[in-house]
Amino acid sequence: MKPPRVPLILRPTPLHRLPRLSAELGIDLWIKRDDLTGFALGGNKGRKLEFLLADMVLKRTTAVVTCGAVHSNFIRQLGAACSIRGLRCLALVMDLPFEPGFEIANVGVGPGGNRWLNEWLGVEVHELPNGSWDELFAQTEDLAQRLEAEGETVYRIPVGGSSPLGAYAFFEAAEEIRTNPFFDSIICPSSSGSTQVGLSYALHGAQTHVIGISCDPEPDLLEELKRLCYGLDDLLGLDRRVAAEYLNLRYDFVGPGYGVPSPEGLAALELMARTEGIFLDPIYTSKAFAGLVQMVRQKEIRGRVLFWHTGGIPSLFTVPPSARIQSAEIAID
Ligand SMILES: Cc1ncc(COP(=O)(O)O)c(C=O)c1O
Repeated sequence: MKPPRVPLILRPTPLHRLPRLSAELGIDLWIKRDDLTGFALGGNKGRKLEFLLADMVLKRTTAVVTCGAVHSNFIRQLGAACSIRGLRCLALVMDLPFEPGFEIANVGVGPGGNRWLNEWLGVEVHELPNGSWDELFAQTEDLAQRLEAEGETVYRIPVGGSSPLGAYAFFEAAEEIRTNPFFDSIICPSSSGSTQVGLSYALHGAQTHVIGISCDPEPDLLEELKRLCYGLDDLLGLDRRVAAEYLNLRYDFVGPGYGVPSPEGLAALELMARTEGIFLDPIYTSKAFAGLVQMVRQKEIRGRVLFWHTGGIPSLFTVPPSARIQSAEIAID
C-alpha cells in the first residue's frame, strides 16, 4: 500500500539531455532536475517531505524537531513544509558537525543562504558550537523531550529526512525515468542516503546502475544505507534485501570533508554553469558531478548517463567563489 502523501512539488521534474556536455565528455548525458521541484527553491528533500509531512499530520504533530549542519537544505525545505501546515519547526544546527576522526578546519559558513531562508520561514534554529554528530543528536533529543514536557506532540526527523519514508519517495521517483530513454548509469550525491537507497532499491536487478557519490567521509554511511534498504522492505512488505554489496557508494570525491567544497567540485560547478547554464551547489551536487566527469574520463561509465540534480542552490549564496576556493585549500592543508 502506498504511504499517504501531502503534495508539495511539481512532478515529474524535468528530464532532459545536456547536448554540449554530452559532446564534450563523449557520452549521452542527461539530467533530472530535482533542483526545479517548485517547492522552497527546489531540491531532493521536497519529495521526501511529501510523505513525512503526511505522517506528521496523521500523528497530530504540533512541533517537528530535527538537526543538521547550518547549511542544511533539508531544514529549509522542512521549514517550508511545516509552516504551510502551521507546525512549529525546531532545528539544532552546528556549523560543521563531524564524526570523531573526521574533524576538519572550521571554515565558517557565511550569513546568507539557507540561514536567511530559514528566518523567512520561521524555523526556530538553535546554533550550537561545533561538535560531534553524537553530541548534536543528544542535544536534539533533550530538546524534543523538553518540548514534550511542555505539552507539544513532537515528531522527530532524522538528518536529511532519511527514514524509510524518505527513501520511499525516491523509490517512487524512479518511476519518472522508467520509460524511455534507458540509462546505463545514474549518478547522484549521497549524504544521509535515502536518495540513493530509494533509486537503487527501485532499480535493483535492472540494467541501470545507480552510483552514489558520498559527500561524507564516514565509512559507516554504507551501513546506514543498508539499514534504509531493510526499512524499505518493511515499509513495502517486500523482501528485496538489496544487499550492501549492490549499493555503489563512492567515497573518492568527498574532498576535504563534509560541508566543505572540493576544488574538483568547484571546477565541475563552473563547467556545468558555463557549458549548460545550469548551477550546481558547492557541497553536494558539484562533488557528484566531479565524480561523474572523472568516472567518464577513466572509462568507468559510458553510454547514456543520468545526472540526478538534487538542488542545494541557496548554498551558492553564502560566500563568494574565491573565498570558497581558499577555504578548500585551507582545509586540505
Ligand atoms: C543538495 C543536496 N543534494 C544531495 C543531498 C544528499 O541526499 P541524501 O541526504 O538523500 O543522501 C543533500 C542532503 O542534504 C542535499 O542537500
